[in-house]
Amino acid sequence: MQRPLLLNGCSTSAKSLVGASVARTTGRPFVDLDASRDVASVSEQSAGMRYGAEERSLETVLGPWRSGSSPAPVVALRSDTLVVRSTRLVALDEAVVVTLDVAPAPGSAEALATELRSPGYAEAHARVAVAGRETGSVCSDVLRVWERDPIVVAAAERSYTVDIGAHSVGSRLSDALGSPSMVLLVSDSNVEPLHGAAVRQAIEAAGHHCVSVTLPAGEEHKNLDTMRGIWEQALVARADRRSVFVGLGGGVVTDVTGFAAAAWMRGVRWVALPTTLLGMVDASVGGKTAVDLLSAKNAVGAFWQPHAVVCDVSLLVTEPQRGYTGALAEVVKTGLIGDPVLLDLLESRAGDVRAHDARLVSELVRRSLRVKARVVSLDECESGHRATLNLGHTVGHALEAEAGYTGLSHGEAVSLGLVAVLRIGQKQGWTPAPVVERTIALLGALGLPVALDRGALGRAVALIAHDKKRAGKTVKLAVVREAGQVALVPVPVDDLCAWCVDLTR
Ligand code: GLY
Repeated sequence: MQRPLLLNGCSTSAKSLVGASVARTTGRPFVDLDASRDVASVSEQSAGMRYGAEERSLETVLGPWRSGSSPAPVVALRSDTLVVRSTRLVALDEAVVVTLDVAPAPGSAEALATELRSPGYAEAHARVAVAGRETGSVCSDVLRVWERDPIVVAAAERSYTVDIGAHSVGSRLSDALGSPSMVLLVSDSNVEPLHGAAVRQAIEAAGHHCVSVTLPAGEEHKNLDTMRGIWEQALVARADRRSVFVGLGGGVVTDVTGFAAAAWMRGVRWVALPTTLLGMVDASVGGKTAVDLLSAKNAVGAFWQPHAVVCDVSLLVTEPQRGYTGALAEVVKTGLIGDPVLLDLLESRAGDVRAHDARLVSELVRRSLRVKARVVSLDECESGHRATLNLGHTVGHALEAEAGYTGLSHGEAVSLGLVAVLRIGQKQGWTPAPVVERTIALLGALGLPVALDRGALGRAVALIAHDKKRAGKTVKLAVVREAGQVALVPVPVDDLCAWCVDLTR
């Protein structure tokens, strides 16, 4: 329980009562921001501190914890503390937020206020029902969420959590599935023999009928024929609107499963169980689902957020080394976008990273996903800021395509794409030279390619230029300003091509 616990909900949701009880059980300080007088008496009896009306802001309670002068507290929020979304996103990033759900009396002023605030209440790490329950039982549910310490992607009623841990599929899957009519477990011919039986067993142990669909492995099968196969098997299995699809595998499997779920019966819930590092740090989170059409990657798809994501890092032991190493390029990218400490960690422990140190890998996944969740929560459908996640991908995708999607893995192409955009950024005066040199050295230390092949880059430039029809005359290029800080710069495609050609000289 490293992060503060914030209890949210309307004024009749017993936040103060539950908060005081959780604080007593855990020995943590209790802060009661709730203005209600009757609950204030409860908080006065608790071991923690009380705040006056003038001090009742989120900053006041997070500040002492941030500075290390207070352990992570339990906080009963006022019913309107997290109404402003920017404040709520800070809370969701820095703390564990649990909404205590209760339905106020119909027609009451509280009912109207609760309805207006409901999108805010939905954006939480968990919602716990309160009505008709003993305080002790509510506290146990709240405590379990706090101990799990998941990451949350905020998307109003479609918000969901990402759990990171070892050997966690068995314990997390039951909650993640909810109460479906049946489960369609989608995997591929590489992953099914390794993990299919254990996951199927966990689904059945949770009391659900499970039907498995095994796809042929490989990016070349990420197409509409595969989709049709999944839907036909869903039909035979009588999957209905209450079914849940589970994607067990790497990025191809989760992309395909998510899209199959998005269109099945006009949209059913799906859960991602990524088995590769790339799947964990990027593909399975954020709701981008798609298949390829002819040579166009991800041409047909939908933004369709998963209902839950479970990153069980113990599944990574079966991942081939090349895929694991490639995914580290996405981890470096994420550090450049929003977490300089992640870069320090990769640098200082590059040997342990390469040796798959399990605790360290969990930390890398957690830090990467925290950045990704922050970005996706701000801009779910990539109308702006989310494009920063494409750092290194414009040139990277072109290099990947130039190599026929077999010569370079996605991660290797992203590594080279990062090198290209860093060098371009340096020449254009956007990226400081020390950041460029440090990042390229880090990519190399992690075993990723950093040497730009002149011929390949020249041919890739032709692909970028050719793509101009689709992208328009200008691209928004994600460039690095500082470690942990990126910007989107509008750049004429012709200029970008010329700068890439420059790199080949
Ligand atoms: N992989 C980039 C994104 O999810 O937006």
